[in-house]
Amino acid sequence: MKSVIIIGASTGIGRELALEFARAGFAVGITARRGELLRQLAQEIEAQGGRAFTQVMDIAETQVSMQLLEGLLETMDGADVIVVNAAIGENSKDLNWEKEAQTIAVNVTGFTAMATVAMQHFLNRRQGHFVGISSIAGERGNRLAPAYAASKAFVSNYLQGLRNLVVKNDANITITVIKPGFVKTPMTANNDRMFWAASAEKAARQIFAAIQRKRPHAYITRRWGIMAWVLRRIPDWLYNRIV
Ligand SMILES: NC(=O)c1ccc[n+]([C@@H]2O[C@H](COP(=O)([O-])OP(=O)(O)OC[C@H]3O[C@@H](n4cnc5c(N)ncnc54)[C@H](OP(=O)(O)O)[C@@H]3O)[C@@H](O)[C@H]2O)c1
Repeated sequence: MKSVIIIGASTGIGRELALEFARAGFAVGITARRGELLRQLAQEIEAQGGRAFTQVMDIAETQVSMQLLEGLLETMDGADVIVVNAAIGENSKDLNWEKEAQTIAVNVTGFTAMATVAMQHFLNRRQGHFVGISSIAGERGNRLAPAYAASKAFVSNYLQGLRNLVVKNDANITITVIKPGFVKTPMTANNDRMFWAASAEKAARQIFAAIQRKRPHAYITRRWGIMAWVLRRIPDWLYNRIV
């Protein structure tokens, strides 16, 4: 039986992605801070005949969460795919330091801690598939959530580094960076500036398909690839006027 671990699977995209993998016959390891939501999801997966393993963890607590991820990998006898999806994304246009610091602690430091354990696991086996959930927000800085956008630029760049590393190591490891546009989830529940917003189910279906195809990059939904192209090219004077 193939297996996947999804870091950040209690709600939104991660939850739907766990269900996609379970329906495809994968044993699913699910982690997040809220244990009750994880237990409900595990029950749902098991009711459909699947296998689920839960692990409560806060990825901002790096020492503890790295050990817990290693423990989960041991319990599951390894994983073929590991997805680091957990992140926070709050509006911080008033440059609230607590929000900015927490965003960096989860989306940058926590992400890197999880990526390190996952990649060590795959490098030891010389095979595997590591997936990071970045964002279209990482394409260019923005005033509404400066740390969030920068944290996603970090994720995209970090994954590029990992891809370079596995190619040089000649290991059979796939690295996929997923860049969603707007998706309707608890993270965006208060965002009234959304357009082209996909449901979490649709986003998860497209992410799952991109992983199955071992794609190096995927925009979710696909039309956001055009937006990324535009975002990277419009001159600063125009960007600063319209965003
Ligand atoms: N929604 C969008 O429009 C959108 C667009 C682009 C990219 N994304 C990215 O997609 C991913 C999923 O976001 P979503 O929209 O599905 O949001 P969400 O529903 O808020 O899900 C975030 C997940 O991350 C977990 N998480 C947050 N902080 C954590 C921590 N410190 N330790 C462990 N787990 C933590 C949450 O679980 P607990 O709270 O239970 O810990 C939850 O399971 C994120 O990486 C986000 O940046 C979303």
